Amino acid sequence: MEKYYITTAIDYVNGAPHIGHAYEKILTDIIARHYTQRCDDVYFLTGTDEHGIKIQKTAAAQGITPKELCDMNAQKFKDAWKALDIDYKKFIRTTDEDHEKIVQKIFDKLLKQGDIYKHSYEGLYCQGCECFLNPKDLTEDGLCPDHLKKPEVVKEENYFFKLTKYKDILIKYIKEHPDFIVPQFRANEVLNQLEDIQDISVSRAKSNVQWGIDVLSDSEQSIYVWIDALSNYITALGFDTENPSDTFKKYWPADVHVIGKDILKFHSIYWPAFLMALDLPLPKHIFAHGWITIDESKMSKSLGNVISPTSVLESFNLEHPDAFRYYMASSAPCGRDGNYSDDDFKEKVNAHLANSMGNLLNRTLSMLVKYFDGEVKPEFKGENPLAKKALGTVQIVKNHFDNFEIAEASLEIISLVDAANKYVQDNAPWTLAKEEKMIECGQVLTNVLDIMCIISALIYPYCPNIAADMARQLSFNLKTKLDDLTADNIKTGKLISKEDIKPVFLRVDSEIADKSQKK
Ligand code: MSP
Repeated sequence: MEKYYITTAIDYVNGAPHIGHAYEKILTDIIARHYTQRCDDVYFLTGTDEHGIKIQKTAAAQGITPKELCDMNAQKFKDAWKALDIDYKKFIRTTDEDHEKIVQKIFDKLLKQGDIYKHSYEGLYCQGCECFLNPKDLTEDGLCPDHLKKPEVVKEENYFFKLTKYKDILIKYIKEHPDFIVPQFRANEVLNQLEDIQDISVSRAKSNVQWGIDVLSDSEQSIYVWIDALSNYITALGFDTENPSDTFKKYWPADVHVIGKDILKFHSIYWPAFLMALDLPLPKHIFAHGWITIDESKMSKSLGNVISPTSVLESFNLEHPDAFRYYMASSAPCGRDGNYSDDDFKEKVNAHLANSMGNLLNRTLSMLVKYFDGEVKPEFKGENPLAKKALGTVQIVKNHFDNFEIAEASLEIISLVDAANKYVQDNAPWTLAKEEKMIECGQVLTNVLDIMCIISALIYPYCPNIAADMARQLSFNLKTKLDDLTADNIKTGKLISKEDIKPVFLRVDSEIADKSQKK
């Protein structure tokens, strides 16, 4: 694998980030970090979507300019991703000048080659979706099914994109590439939507939507937000209609666009059609994740249950975001909806990260210090009964990531931790020490520590801080590529002293955590 180009959806900046936005960025960061363990060149793009009627109206309601609103909220997204250790390479804003210029050129090219034409139109526009809705998709009360708001009747002369021209080729492409849309069960939905697809309006009258990119040849019209937004995936790399950059040539096509299920239509119908019109290759995968609910209800301003990602870190006084990342990433199988609840969060991270994984390392290292002054003797090394399961888990985890099964992969890692715990329990090194079977005792401890190195590598994408703490105590190089992992990781000689043993994760709400909170 030479390169891996991965993107998130770019978030609207009419509000602050919430844990739904965070879920997607965490999933993407985990996938990106996993691929850094398999390939040297991962490009991770995220950003904000800053034009459109929604942002224009929110700014007006707050008595500020759209640009001021965008600057203020884009910063909130950047701050949140920093707090969550989202390690993106580039953050694009659709108000970036170079992005705007290229979007104008893209539109102009499609207009000149006849994929875009002008047409008078009346339709029902939902501001929440930033798109025209088909009357047959509305609820019985005539509301947008996603936003439960009445769409406004818009009558305008707009530019239209000839989506119908690409209908048959798109259907064929999706059928012939069963892994294009992930999870596969969503492909049928897309094929159904394609059946009655129409040409789409790709501009709005400037008199109605001022906050948008001007059509180059027609300053009375602004470019439709979705052409503007979707293009970020190529403009960020320096795409140009005449002279694309080397970065673009190197990274395009994207390996995966990670997006929510609500915007799959835009990514698996509109975007591929635009790319075909531009004569560019299609992204390899569109991974549509599910939605996060709060205590089993949809997050909404009216219910007052919108949670900011940083508030979770603050309320549990977490010194790093690992527990939250782990919890979110393991909250739902591939493409299914997940749920956040404080109680469940506490229970799960305490059980998995503190009791199972953290304690195992802590107990094993403590015994090594107690019985052997922290030294791994050459005679402790030998055949490791956990090796097969551990190296098998590495392969299973890789396969899960190839299918974007992030929660499923995390379960495999915890199952390896459980197997190591069971091995310690079954072999009771404390009893072996009491019986003065010191070599056997040392072997058991070393076997576990060798496997803990593999566990630190596997948990790294989810919990980079915990993994770094584990690796430090094991003198293990976390930069080891997954394919280079063996079951022989611990060097012989002095491994650790008592004062260097440190719990890698304190139970949330435990006495120790309370004390460290007070500090
Ligand atoms: N701006 C568009 C995307 C353009 S991509 C070229 C948009 N923005 S959004 O802010 O509404 O949503 C951004 C992402 O967050 C989407 O992928 C969306 O599915 C995701 N989520 C928003 N709320 C969510 C949850 N409650 N749960 C999980 N993801 C959610 O759409």
